[in-house]
Amino acid sequence: MNERQLSRAGEGLQDVQEVDVAILGAGAAGLMCALEAGRRGRRVLVLDHADKPGKKILISGGGRCNFTNLHATAANFLSQNPHFAKSALARFTPADIIALVEKHGIPYHEKTLGQLFCDRSAKEIVQMLERECAEAGVRLALETRIAKATRDGEAFRIETSSGILRADSVVVATGGLSIPKMGATGLGYEIARHFGLRIVEPRPGLVPLVLHPDDRDQWCDLAGLSAEVVAATAQPRTPAFREKALITHRGLSGPAILQISSYWQAGQPLSFDLAPGADVLAPLLAPNARRDPPAFAQALRSIFPTRLAERWLALHPPSDWTNPSLAAAERQLHDWTLTPAGTEGYAKAEVTCGGVDTADLDARTLQSRAVPGLFFIGEVVDVTGWLGGYNFQWAWASGFAAGQVA
Ligand code: FDA
Repeated sequence: MNERQLSRAGEGLQDVQEVDVAILGAGAAGLMCALEAGRRGRRVLVLDHADKPGKKILISGGGRCNFTNLHATAANFLSQNPHFAKSALARFTPADIIALVEKHGIPYHEKTLGQLFCDRSAKEIVQMLERECAEAGVRLALETRIAKATRDGEAFRIETSSGILRADSVVVATGGLSIPKMGATGLGYEIARHFGLRIVEPRPGLVPLVLHPDDRDQWCDLAGLSAEVVAATAQPRTPAFREKALITHRGLSGPAILQISSYWQAGQPLSFDLAPGADVLAPLLAPNARRDPPAFAQALRSIFPTRLAERWLALHPPSDWTNPSLAAAERQLHDWTLTPAGTEGYAKAEVTCGGVDTADLDARTLQSRAVPGLFFIGEVVDVTGWLGGYNFQWAWASGFAAGQVA
């Protein structure tokens, strides 16, 4: 087999017993790392149990892949060490992935808030990565389940469903636990533990929230209705998100909810400003204005769809129509609290928060501090982006950083 060509499923590992770099996982991070290491002349093999590379890229951004965010900085990521991502993000920026996308003639647009999407299809991003990998001589072994990775003298031994592989460097790019039916596994965490790296307890992130039965009875028949809110947690020093929240059959979703879900701690309340920047009940305070339920509902319709306005009034009628009562009603709209029962879990989570503890990794190279030649990149690491293209930017940046040295 020609080592400089990208091979596909079925070719197996029989004739590839030794490589310089084995990359576990053909997702965004693994492919970016592979093309960088390949460009350096390293013999690179990417392994994945899926039947094609970049499956999550294909379903991302509603099929159009929100491949970066123009404003990405370390402040847009959750991690026990908020500074960890800075080094990699500085060395592969949104401008770098845009340059690659433009080199391949892929049209894109900014949707909102710096989020860049393909005009046509996420497939083009996968094709771009495949082409770059092929040009860099990267080989790809698909439908290859990885069982474990262990030390073998100075090198590593990787046991797979297609045979045993020896590699000088191993890059773990197996992602998190989100969407098990798409092939997510905890393999990356198992390899990390085997080599003595610590794990920050994984949990679902960017995930819809489920309400307690009483709250569900009050709201969930309005599934499909949405409003712009500011969502925040009760914990200090966590960001608040001003975006849409959506009522679902079991709870809440929409961008504001997905964003705050990554910061939410089980059992804690969330607070919502349901009328950001608005003085909703001001019309009732005007001289000679009507002060009654229809006037109240009318005012609420400036921020809510009609059925939601009516439901709010039914559940939160002012105690009377005096100025203090209306002021209290206004305050309640700006500071409404609700304690979710839980999340929809990994089946619906866009990402996994937590992961390989950054304290055990070098921020510049993503290499294990204690095990030279062992790297962790992408979502398997305890660096989780906000909604809006940040997670792919981390995958590109961390993949690039490791690809420079692996
Ligand atoms: P990723 O999960 O992509 O790849 C890991 C690979 O490892 C997979 O190919 C898997 O098959 C393989 N693997 C795992 N275990 C294995 C084993 N035991 N043996 C062999 N192979 C194994 N982000 C963003 O920035 N913009 C967006 O538009 C979206 N949209 C989006 C939509 C949906 C529905 C989801 C679920 C997620 C997003 N994301 C996103 C998040 C983004 O997709 C995610 O953060 C990156 O794909 C992570 O890339 P990685 O390469 O780290 O892991």
